[in-house]
Amino acid sequence: MYSEQTMDHFQNPRNMGEIENPDAVGDVGNPTCGDMMRITLSIDADTQVITDVKFKTFGCGAAIATSSMVTELVKGKTLAEALTISNKTVAKELGGLPPVKMHCSVLAEQGIAAAMIDYFRRHPEMTPPEGLMEKAARLEELDPHGDEDEASEDEGAGHGEES
Ligand code: FES
Repeated sequence: MYSEQTMDHFQNPRNMGEIENPDAVGDVGNPTCGDMMRITLSIDADTQVITDVKFKTFGCGAAIATSSMVTELVKGKTLAEALTISNKTVAKELGGLPPVKMHCSVLAEQGIAAAMIDYFRRHPEMTPPEGLMEKAARLEELDPHGDEDEASEDEGAGHGEES
């Protein structure tokens, strides 16, 4: 079942919405269940610190809770620091997720990575933090519903609960 923190972030999502005139936008989707997420970032160009972040997620409760948590985790961090936050970190900070919902946390990691890529696309003169392009390629290959370690047993479990 869901942890107290997950229920709290689902019921009272932090940083929900969209920044006006953002410095970066990340749009990602889960091709299997159709859930979608948009991350908008404000970034200090001198320090590369994420000064503001907002999300909009059309998706399941776990997708909303992980979106909310990831915004809390990256706010005030540099892009390089934010890059080290994985979906597993997000799930851990939420007190864990049911195994069949682990794939939902991938959307949160993807959204941040996609927004960062957008930022460096807008600023070709800047050097992306080490590992960003590798991470982007890795996440692109990843089928969020095909995580062998955590969510493989039921392909059709998109919106289902742990049994
Ligand atoms: Fe689609 Fe959770 S992200 S079921």
